[in-house]
Amino acid sequence: MKTLKSSVILVLSFSFLLVFASAKTATENFVQCLLRRSPPSYPIAPAIFTPNNHSYSSVLQTYIQNLRFNTSTTPKPFLILTALHEYHVRIAILCARIDNLLMKIRSGGHDYEGVSYVSDIVPFFILDMFNLRRISIDIKTETAWVQTGATIGEVFYKIAEESKLHGFPAGVCPTMGVGGHLSGGGYGNMMRKHGLTVDQFIDAKIIDVNGKLLDRKAMGEDLFWAITGGGGSSFGVVVAYKIRLVRVPETVTVFRVRRTLEENELTEIVDEWQRVAHVIDNDLFIRVTFDVVNGTHKGNKTLRATFLAMFLGDSQTLLSLINNSFPKLGLKKPDCLEMSWIESVLFWTDETSVNALLNRMTGRIHLKRKSDYVKTLIPKKGFNKIWKKMIELEKPMMKFNPYGGRMGEIASNATPFPHRAGNLWKIQYTTNWNEEGSRQADHLIDLTRKLHKFMTPFVSKNPRTAFLNYRDLDIGVTHNGKKSYYEGRGYGIKYFEGNFERLVKIKTKVDPDNFFRNEQSIPRFPHV
Ligand SMILES: Cc1cc2nc3c(=O)[nH]c(=O)nc-3n(C[C@H](O)[C@H](O)[C@H](O)COP(=O)(O)OP(=O)(O)OC[C@H]3O[C@@H](n4cnc5c(N)ncnc54)[C@H](O)[C@@H]3O)c2cc1C
Ligand SMILES: *[C@@H]1O[C@H](CO)[C@@H](O)[C@H](O)[C@H]1NC(C)=O
Ligand SMILES: *[C@@H]1O[C@H](CO)[C@@H](O)[C@H](O)[C@H]1NC(C)=O
Ligand SMILES: *[C@@H]1O[C@H](CO)[C@@H](O)[C@H](O)[C@H]1NC(C)=O
Ligand SMILES: *[C@@H]1O[C@H](CO)[C@@H](O)[C@H](O)[C@H]1NC(C)=O
Ligand SMILES: *[C@@H]1O[C@H](CO)[C@@H](O)[C@H](O)[C@H]1NC(C)=O
Repeated sequence: MKTLKSSVILVLSFSFLLVFASAKTATENFVQCLLRRSPPSYPIAPAIFTPNNHSYSSVLQTYIQNLRFNTSTTPKPFLILTALHEYHVRIAILCARIDNLLMKIRSGGHDYEGVSYVSDIVPFFILDMFNLRRISIDIKTETAWVQTGATIGEVFYKIAEESKLHGFPAGVCPTMGVGGHLSGGGYGNMMRKHGLTVDQFIDAKIIDVNGKLLDRKAMGEDLFWAITGGGGSSFGVVVAYKIRLVRVPETVTVFRVRRTLEENELTEIVDEWQRVAHVIDNDLFIRVTFDVVNGTHKGNKTLRATFLAMFLGDSQTLLSLINNSFPKLGLKKPDCLEMSWIESVLFWTDETSVNALLNRMTGRIHLKRKSDYVKTLIPKKGFNKIWKKMIELEKPMMKFNPYGGRMGEIASNATPFPHRAGNLWKIQYTTNWNEEGSRQADHLIDLTRKLHKFMTPFVSKNPRTAFLNYRDLDIGVTHNGKKSYYEGRGYGIKYFEGNFERLVKIKTKVDPDNFFRNEQSIPRFPHV
């Protein structure tokens, strides 16, 4: 018995050593391969960072946008490649394929679950895109080529530099990367007028699993379709998108007004909002954020609703629109601020200087996000229960983003993003904190899940849908093994509904060995 046990241990530790040795060789071979294939005109050595390099930690941390993953126990990559040229991306793929090393692709690093730079499966490396961030605007054709390492703030800044009458319907946080935000179907406050980022795509450049650089014509309409909202990271490395700019008026109007449960008829106001926000003029987008704040009496909590609006027009027109359709809000002239489109971008992100759009290092927090879609009106009684629950849980906030308008006109299979007609609004569950440590994180993540669970009767079901860019690993993960198709269906149907199968078909064709994989990548069809 004793000998059996010790020989088992011996065999186990021997195979552990073997795995360890082969992992070590694989990573060493990878570095050798990169250096060997490095083109003389674009040397790759300055783009390689391993834990031995002095600046490895700072390169790693620069684009960790969720501090929940900035801990000493978070698994670290054995290497970061900060590609300086498209050719570096190409050889990274070819060298990594030799031992099927896991590659994580990072553009802005805003993934809510850190999928672009964390992995429980080691060894893995990060392909960091931040050096590839050229933006070329062509106002004559009202188009732009944007490389994926650029931030949305940089894209907005460049557009405004060239024209006061153009904009782009992308999201609200300036430090988001083009790579993740656009490939995942990003939305912003012009969504009701112009749809999503992906509704303005003209062309793209991707490097595929064979290291080939392909434009739309070369990749074909299937693969192009997949990277307009299916997330890039299952299919290849997106290097650039060609986007159509949209026209914006010289003057837009914004407002931010706050109402509380204690002082206002909040349920009445929100009830009116839910009836009008998705059918009102397409030029108007009114987001509501709910959070819990101190009441006027010491020790008492109340619910606060912040109505944040973007109107593509002047304040007089806005006031009469609100007066006609949403009078319960009680909007007053002084609430309405007229400004240029680029100033409205700053207003929405609480910044004051246009140069802030170029700042890649803004304040960071620990966070958890979840999402839901609402397809039927919520009864007032339901709202009252929701307010009570929010006050009880206190920390998790909710953001309601109205749909309708252009979103309802685009077919749900035009892009992989399926949440079009029939959706009244999207909910984001938002929990932020500053304290370090897993106890605090576990507690606040648990509260966020509780609120999400409480909302079950009020949101979409069969499937209970979710938004890919609001990455949430709670809704399922794949282990990229034999069961990956069935695991992938779990979250895949929630993110993509009827478009999931087409994504699987494309994935099976363009990446048959599943090189481009992560915790929530598109799986291949099971082998028959
Ligand atoms: C503060 C904040 C505000 C936000 N506001 C909005 C909003 O208004 N609207 C909205 O739609 N979303 C919003 N988001 C979500 C955001 O769109 C996603 O997190 C998005 O994925 C971020 O892109 P990234 O390049 O910064 O992320 P990354 O973490 O770099 O990447 C995200 C995913 O895309 C993949 N990927 C990145 N680059 C490439 C590439 N070049 N090729 C292939 N795959 C790639 C990654 O591997 C990963 O799977 C917000 C996020 C934050 C943190
Ligand atoms: C990091 O170290 C490796 C090996 O020591 C070297 O090849 C590479 O050039 C270094 N990277 C940088 C950016 O100096
Ligand atoms: C991330 O962690 C490192 C190491 O603990 C720390 O020095 C750094 O300040 C952290 N980053 C942020 C933005 O807090
Ligand atoms: C809310 O009230 C508590 C005491 O009840 C106090 O500690 C806290 O600072 C208050 N918060 C704000 C934002 O005023
Ligand atoms: C505290 O808030 C609750 C719920 O909003 C309310 O019913 C109660 O009257 C408030 N108490 C005081 C002292 O204002
Ligand atoms: C608001 O609408 C009412 C009628 O619905 C009208 O009497 C009033 O003058 C309007 N006010 C403004 C400021 O437009």
